[in-house]
Amino acid sequence: MRKRSIFAISIFLLGLGLTGCDSGDIEERGYSTASGGLTLRFRARLTSQNDWEETGYGIVLAGFSDQSNYAVLQRPIPSAFMNGEAMEMVMSNVSSSISTMELAVTNTLRKRIATFRTIDLEAYKGRTDTIDIELGSIDVGLSGFMQQGIFNQACIQCHGSNGRKAGTLDLTDGMALQQLVDVPSSQKPGYMRVVSGDAEGSLLRMILHEGGENLLNYNHTEVLSSQFKESLEDVKNLIDEWINGL
Ligand code: HEC
Repeated sequence: MRKRSIFAISIFLLGLGLTGCDSGDIEERGYSTASGGLTLRFRARLTSQNDWEETGYGIVLAGFSDQSNYAVLQRPIPSAFMNGEAMEMVMSNVSSSISTMELAVTNTLRKRIATFRTIDLEAYKGRTDTIDIELGSIDVGLSGFMQQGIFNQACIQCHGSNGRKAGTLDLTDGMALQQLVDVPSSQKPGYMRVVSGDAEGSLLRMILHEGGENLLNYNHTEVLSSQFKESLEDVKNLIDEWINGL
């Protein structure tokens, strides 16, 4: 117990330190109004197999308004804390212009690329006490990003849920990796669904990119663009990062 609380405090301090240049100024500038803002205490156990800091993207707790894909405030979560241990982060003075707090992937401009969890702040309006939010255990690595950010959002309606398994491919949680990685295509002889370490050689990547329109009986090239209008290039980059890191 004692160890845990020290851990939590050190994250909090580190969080403050890290935001010094990135976002702390924005937080402080905008929200110390008389009406005050919300105080939110997030608890989670995060794991990640890869180091986000090397990808140019980051895992953050971020506040978004309805109008923009760019975080109004955000606090980066250092890779060192994605080790499965209980962690705690407190965000205070969260202004009423922020409608959702999200555990998300953002780029260096704070643009939202994908979201792991969304907390709608509407229900907490006017609260002055510290609000506890339990996020649970979350894989925030690239494989978690693929499952929660991509497959669950854009693929499983045809691949795995509602009893549909287009192309005999199931992309639901717990199935996707074993059905994809180094597994031959069921539709396209000579191709592999995903070749570990080789994005360009992977059918999954080919069908999502221009030029892949006619590889299968279903054209997948619009699947991502309809779902990720603002962050398409980033999402494609991260899919490559995921495959190349396998
Ligand atoms: C609207 C339905 C639909 C959606 C959404 C969809 N797919 Fe498909 N997918 C299909 C169909 C249909 C096939 C089989 C095509 C064929 O028979 O040639 C297929 C085949 C595939 C294959 C080839 C399987 C094999 O063994 O050859 C892959 C890989 C794939 N999809 C990945 C994805 C990914 C990744 C997404 C999400 C980004 C996705 N699909 C979203 C309908 C869909």
